[in-house]
Amino acid sequence: MKNHISAKVVGVFDSGVGGLSVLREIHAMLPSQPLYFIADQAHVPYGKRRLSEIREFSFAITDFLASIGAQMIVVACNTASAASLNDLRKEYPQLTFVGMEPAVKPATQKTHNGIVGVLATPATFQGKLYNTLVEKFAKDVKILTHTCPGLVEAIESGELSNQSTRLILQQALLPMIEKGADTIVLGCTHFPFIVPTIKDIVGPNVSVIDPSPAIARRVSTLLNELNLLDRSSINSDITYATTGEPEKFTDIVHSLLKIEISTVHLKWVEGKIKQID
Ligand code: DGL
Repeated sequence: MKNHISAKVVGVFDSGVGGLSVLREIHAMLPSQPLYFIADQAHVPYGKRRLSEIREFSFAITDFLASIGAQMIVVACNTASAASLNDLRKEYPQLTFVGMEPAVKPATQKTHNGIVGVLATPATFQGKLYNTLVEKFAKDVKILTHTCPGLVEAIESGELSNQSTRLILQQALLPMIEKGADTIVLGCTHFPFIVPTIKDIVGPNVSVIDPSPAIARRVSTLLNELNLLDRSSINSDITYATTGEPEKFTDIVHSLLKIEISTVHLKWVEGKIKQID
């Protein structure tokens, strides 16, 4: 059974564990706000899929989150934002969406030499959102890109710093560093979990930009404007749900966030999300 959790619940979703990097920032900034997190691990990775397919997943997840009472939804996934954010805003005018986009604009302000590397999924680079960002903000900046094949899957398996993960990162980052990049944008919400490995490879003189604290600030501002901010002093309830295997998800959350959770099991049935009791 689905429960109406609270009128102030904020829905947060991603293809997998990546969105937890955004969720933890929102929770750190707004510890009383109830949150409902969905990892669509039945379909992870999104990055290699067609934009139209990712859009369908995003719509069905939004329907589910709206049905439990969420009025704000954070698309904690660059790929799903690239595929669906504009359409979600058109289709659900009664809901407020906060989406992710590679932090190209902050990177252009941060770089000293005008050479920026962006790591993101193939679908993110295909989307209109990314290309508009580059046209708008990066005219005078050289942008180097890489899709880091296999990296999302490695992070989903909890492989944050082992040899094969390092290798994927070296292949992506070392050519960027050789070409002079002094700023690296994490254009996928999975990647903040491997920042120590990234910093180890790029060295101390390269800036690494994780947009999730800025997203949390945006969520806070919007909740305030909409009068949806939970100001009670109690620590909020966070519901963790996956369309994949709940035990596996519980374990990976423990290893990534060092917390104990119980996981709600969701299932895809005929293109819709249902809760398994
Ligand atoms: N975490 C995601 C993103 O920000 C999706 C990665 C994937 O599923 O390919 O793009």
